[in-house]
Amino acid sequence: MGATKVQLLLILFIHIWFSTAQNNDDATYLRALKDSWENTPPNWEDNSDPCSGWDGITCTNSRVTSITLASMGLTGSLTGDIGQLSELQILDLSYNKGLTGSLSSAIGNLNKLTNLILVNCGFSGPLPDTLGNLESLIFMSLNSNGFTGPVPPSIGNLKNLYWLDLADNRLTGSIPVSNGSTPGLDMLIHTKHFHFGGNMLSGPIPQRLFNSNMTLIHVLFENNRLTGSIPNTLGLVKSLEVIRLDRNFLTGNVPSNINNLTGLFEMFLSNNQLTGLVPNLTGLNVLNYLDLSNNTFDPSSIPPWFSTLQSLTTLKMSSTSLVGQLPAALFNIPQLQNVDLSKNSLNGTLSIGSSHSNQLQQVDLQNNQIVDFTQRSQYTIELILVGNPICTETGVTEKFCSLPTNTNSSYLTPPNNCVATPCSSPGQVSSPNCVCAYPYTGNLFFRAPSFSELGNSTVYESLRNAMINSFRRSQLPVDSVSLGNPARNLDDYLEINLMVFPSGGERFNRTGILGLGFSLSNQTFKPPSSFGPYFFIGDNYDFLLGSSGGGHKSSNTGVIVGAAVGGCVLVALLVLAGIYALRQKGRAEKATHESSSPFALWDTTGRSGAVPQLKGAKAFSFEELNRCTNNFSESNNIGTGGYGTVYKGSLPDGQLIAIKRAKQGSTQGGLEFKTEIELLSRVHHKNLVSLVGFCFDQGEQMLVYEYIVNGTVKDSISGRSGIRLDWIRRLRIALGAAKGLQYLHDLADPPIIHRDVKTNNILLDERLVAKVADFGLSKSLGDANRTHVTTQVKGTMGYMDPEYYMTQQLTEKSDVYSFGVVLLELITARNPIEKGKYIVREVKQAMDKSKELYNLHEVLDPTIGLTTQLKGMERFVDVALRCVEETGDKRPTMSDVVKEIESIMELAGLNPNAESASNSADYPSKGGEHPYANDSLFAYSGDQFPTKLDPK
Ligand SMILES: *[C@@H]1O[C@H](CO)[C@@H](O)[C@H](O)[C@H]1NC(C)=O
Ligand SMILES: *[C@@H]1O[C@H](CO)[C@@H](O)[C@H](O)[C@H]1NC(C)=O
Ligand SMILES: *[C@@H]1O[C@H](CO)[C@@H](O)[C@H](O)[C@H]1NC(C)=O
Ligand SMILES: *[C@@H]1O[C@H](CO)[C@@H](O)[C@H](O)[C@H]1NC(C)=O
Ligand SMILES: *[C@@H]1O[C@H](CO)[C@@H](O)[C@H](O)[C@H]1NC(C)=O
Repeated sequence: MGATKVQLLLILFIHIWFSTAQNNDDATYLRALKDSWENTPPNWEDNSDPCSGWDGITCTNSRVTSITLASMGLTGSLTGDIGQLSELQILDLSYNKGLTGSLSSAIGNLNKLTNLILVNCGFSGPLPDTLGNLESLIFMSLNSNGFTGPVPPSIGNLKNLYWLDLADNRLTGSIPVSNGSTPGLDMLIHTKHFHFGGNMLSGPIPQRLFNSNMTLIHVLFENNRLTGSIPNTLGLVKSLEVIRLDRNFLTGNVPSNINNLTGLFEMFLSNNQLTGLVPNLTGLNVLNYLDLSNNTFDPSSIPPWFSTLQSLTTLKMSSTSLVGQLPAALFNIPQLQNVDLSKNSLNGTLSIGSSHSNQLQQVDLQNNQIVDFTQRSQYTIELILVGNPICTETGVTEKFCSLPTNTNSSYLTPPNNCVATPCSSPGQVSSPNCVCAYPYTGNLFFRAPSFSELGNSTVYESLRNAMINSFRRSQLPVDSVSLGNPARNLDDYLEINLMVFPSGGERFNRTGILGLGFSLSNQTFKPPSSFGPYFFIGDNYDFLLGSSGGGHKSSNTGVIVGAAVGGCVLVALLVLAGIYALRQKGRAEKATHESSSPFALWDTTGRSGAVPQLKGAKAFSFEELNRCTNNFSESNNIGTGGYGTVYKGSLPDGQLIAIKRAKQGSTQGGLEFKTEIELLSRVHHKNLVSLVGFCFDQGEQMLVYEYIVNGTVKDSISGRSGIRLDWIRRLRIALGAAKGLQYLHDLADPPIIHRDVKTNNILLDERLVAKVADFGLSKSLGDANRTHVTTQVKGTMGYMDPEYYMTQQLTEKSDVYSFGVVLLELITARNPIEKGKYIVREVKQAMDKSKELYNLHEVLDPTIGLTTQLKGMERFVDVALRCVEETGDKRPTMSDVVKEIESIMELAGLNPNAESASNSADYPSKGGEHPYANDSLFAYSGDQFPTKLDPK
């Protein structure tokens, strides 16, 4: 009897000790949340510490910082306990339709929350006013729920908000704007996305909603009940790329200053009651998609300036009172795909010209007054003239006089050089690699794509590749992705079915699914720019039967059972807990190890034995390289690092090369080496140092690069090289290096994170074109150096992304951080850390935005030129400081940086696309000044790449 009591006490004591020593209150509140949910992941066990491996839970110092549970099949409600997790930064419960009830106002207590993502759950009721207290919030997606009531004005207080998506709910009332005493959406000057489509918002769009301080790129209010006219303040938001105001009750004239929105890609104003003349849009040089259909404009002929909209892919002006003859020149717009001018009064004889766009697919001219068509026998497009006099003559049999049967495309990702096998189990699908597995499925919805031609498979291939790359970058266990059945839905969204197939097994585990869900709900995956804004609706996933645990075990069970069975069970439990902890530790170590290689998932299995697949890189024998470096003589040594030594050499044909020779002990396995040179040999860009070849001979591992004559940027700005860099040259160098990095992040396949961006790794060629060096080496050298983390950190101290340093999570934003430091170094010529002072702090402290040159005269490098001529310096400092924001998600992408530096150059009166850096008199003339020879065949031309990228 006494013994039992002691045991009971002991157990209680240990129980309490466990809960207080390992868990703080967060664990308690998380358990309370769990108790209000069904279908929580099976490893959410009552007696385990949520911070030691519960699926979807991330902790820092035993505090819960992130809950990501997309597509877990959760049901229940979100109780006020959520408000107690005061360190929470990310909450993603998307695609759990079974989560219902209203959103607790306690959510407003989460003042560290940056991402609130509840896409496509079953929530209803009003949006709590306390959302406006989430002062750290950057990303809010509450779309596709059943929320009702007004948009809380307090949202206007979220001054860090970047993404605001409340679309597809049942919100009512007017659009809130500030009025001196209450906040409103007009205060969101850092927000890029207003997604409010598919609600029941009413009243006019307030004049005050838009102002010139805003940085919006997407304004989406389609499918509401808005009345009144389009406010002319909309024309002040110069950053706009997409406007959707279609499917409302808007009246009045389209404001003429819409024509000032020179960056607009897509505009939908259809299905309103707009009046006046068709707006003058000559200024919209990059407009791709225009839909003005179903409005009550004054009758007018097709404005001749339409054919000056040279980027147009889609023109829809059905039922817009057009009269007169259709000019054939309209069809010469080079990328035109689809024209819908049905239900107008166009008359006369139709000609589509002899040199119409070769992308032209469909011209819909139903129900007009057209009497003849000049190219009856020689046209290839789908032309619809039903309801015109030409078709009402008796006896016409022309194809254009009948409606096309089916316009939907039946695209489906084809098998990748294999034969699809029939799958035996229900639910299994044969992947593009012909493996039967259980895919994660759902639908992608693109709210404003810039194209209308749905039959072009290259478009879907680009989407697929972007997605696979993004998933791999996020270390998600994805084998392949399949897309199918693209179609325009009733809201004019492009809807595409998505299937994502697992790698290394036939099913995803929970971590895989919630990671995929998060990647899509949080917009981590960014589609190619032509797809525009999107959202995803994920289906429930069929986890293995029997593993769908959870349930409602009382947390006292352990105590009662323990008390009954006695101490030996306790010992066993403790041992188990110990083993569990060790396993978790092992897992964590494995995870960090894997994350040290951004390409851990690159599939090498099919290649393991094969000859390296190299583009233009040569295999050198040891003898050859020995000869061209004069037996690796000391006089040819141009640098030594942890990995080995760099030698200068010259090939028999005179080409200068730099040879990186790995020292004994830092070589890697043959397969890894092969993988790496394959990777490097595929990377070709004029702002990247290219690989000439390699040597894998006599136990040596060497990489052979082109030799870059003018050395490092560091050498130049420190004055060591004797090359003077004025402001213009520094701008060009910044742009070149940024383009090189952008290529690595966005276009290399697989994407490459440099990890060691610094002025020592940016070289200058004979024309002072910047070339980024040492990329892609991160993998091998990173692994080798991982054992000497301290020395490695020392080497790049000052450039290192603090977030990466603390979280070990490597993203391309870590490169962006380092690049920001490089930009500061470029203008100050100071080392990142000099005499104990950190360049980032120094610049911030010296800075005063109200003064000329931001008051930075003191810290600027005096050799940069006359301070009166530093055009664009302030913006340059701005972009540098954005790059060194504390958290990655606040930093721009490299493609944003490129865009920004280009526009700074334009401001300084330069052509950012001009090649040479030679504007100054003291150009080091080492080889004449012939115009730079064309890029090599492999070189990627940056200008062909659309620069319209979402800056997140
Ligand atoms: C824009 O910002 C400036 C500077 O902060 C401020 O003075 C001005 O009032 C703002 N304009 C509007 C329309 O909010
Ligand atoms: C914008 O458009 C209006 C009217 O069309 C014009 O008067 C004004 O100068 C333009 N503003 C800018 C900044 O281009
Ligand atoms: C359209 O606007 C442009 C620039 O604002 C102007 O030059 C042009 O004359 C206008 N065209 C018409 C037909 O009003
Ligand atoms: C125009 O309105 C009609 C009737 O409401 C609708 O059927 C048609 O789809 C609309 N056209 C466009 C392009 O939105
Ligand atoms: C076409 O319509 C215009 C405007 O309504 C009219 O002036 C013209 O005479 C018509 N042309 C023909 C050939 O019917």
